[in-house]
Amino acid sequence: MSQNKTLRIGLIGCGFMGRTHSNGYKRVGDFFPALEYRPVLKVVCSRSEKSVRDFAQQWGYESFETDWQKVVARDDIDAVDICTPNDSHEPIAIAAAKAGKMVLCEKPLSRTLAEGNRMVEAVKKAGVANTVWYNYRRLPAVTLAKQIVDSGKLGKIFHYRANFLQDWTINANLPQGGTGLWRIDVDSAGSGVTGDLLAHCIDTAMWLNGAIIDVSAMTETFIKQRLHQLTGKVQPVGIDDACIFHCHFENGSLGLFESTRYARGHKALYTFEINGEHASIRWDLHDLNRLEYFDHRDESIVRGWRSIHVTDGDQPYMDKWWVPGLGIGYEHSFIHQAADFLKSVEKGEACHPTFEDALQTQKVCEAVLASASTKSWKNTGVSGSQH
Ligand SMILES: NC(=O)c1ccc[n+]([C@@H]2O[C@H](COP(=O)([O-])OP(=O)(O)OC[C@H]3O[C@@H](n4cnc5c(N)ncnc54)[C@H](O)[C@@H]3O)[C@@H](O)[C@H]2O)c1
Repeated sequence: MSQNKTLRIGLIGCGFMGRTHSNGYKRVGDFFPALEYRPVLKVVCSRSEKSVRDFAQQWGYESFETDWQKVVARDDIDAVDICTPNDSHEPIAIAAAKAGKMVLCEKPLSRTLAEGNRMVEAVKKAGVANTVWYNYRRLPAVTLAKQIVDSGKLGKIFHYRANFLQDWTINANLPQGGTGLWRIDVDSAGSGVTGDLLAHCIDTAMWLNGAIIDVSAMTETFIKQRLHQLTGKVQPVGIDDACIFHCHFENGSLGLFESTRYARGHKALYTFEINGEHASIRWDLHDLNRLEYFDHRDESIVRGWRSIHVTDGDQPYMDKWWVPGLGIGYEHSFIHQAADFLKSVEKGEACHPTFEDALQTQKVCEAVLASASTKSWKNTGVSGSQH
């Protein structure tokens, strides 16, 4: 076992994702000891000097910056990790790629398809390793779902349905824009639930069930105007508060997706279900260690939904954790993605989803928004197997 190679991280943004990624980098070496590369927390960057200094101290970064361009320009950084709001993904990713850094980027890849295209072009041209943090793929129960689908146990797939429901923007007095509320400001976020929540559902769906080829969508903005925290003015709300779409997958199955921030009582209800000719599976983020499985081929008197507690050592990632029966949490998906990225660097292979893979999700998001605004079906332009 060799442990002498380092991957020096420059992390931009020290909010929610800055914490999950930092936790991932800090713990990955302890739980994945065979990895050749170890992340080194070299520099963290955020615009407020006080908060970034405190963050650097708390999480053990060697230094901090308040200007991301300085991070990108530093020659003691191997990889730039983008944990900032969506409007800064493109400039940071392109500058990092041009500087020859590996680029890890939070989802959604970009606000628009045009931005995403330029980002893909930049990492390809620079030939740098890249990945997008669609972390739900790396929860063991979701990875097991992928293994079950790929094994053919479900048979021909007829239906895929997914929800991502929240309730945090129902209050009409909630402002938009600025710290903590950039998701409600269309200029910062690009879109509302489509890019924020459905992007996760679409990424998982195409990974599990292949390309989404066309969509028919509707969106709604329930609160039309909100005070903008940065301008101090009441301004129109440009994001979609809710989005529902249905679609065709390339394999002939039908998809149904719903996301909203107006489902009272739901904080982060991400669920998916797949119905095949022989079997069905379903998963719920609120019970993330479990995968539900129904197999029609079971003997009829015992046939029923099984609740698989995905905690055994022969199930995905679980040999790295505790003993069978003991669950893990949301944060582990980021540790797993850090591990998979380090492994990919070691092997010189792509770490999926790459920017190119995440661009396919952007194509679907863009088609969904276009379909909703024109009240018509839209082709996504996505085809072929999805990684
Ligand atoms: N994978 C997931 O499940 C998941 C979950 C939440 C958020 N995200 C994504 O992560 C990204 C960040 O979201 P968040 O919830 O961490 O946001 P946040 O508001 O909690 O944190 C954003 C951070 O970026 C900093 N920042 C903003 N602009 C900057 C700039 N120009 N230069 C340097 N720092 C800047 C802010 O100061 C803050 O520290 C978004 O793209 C979001 O969509 C992904």
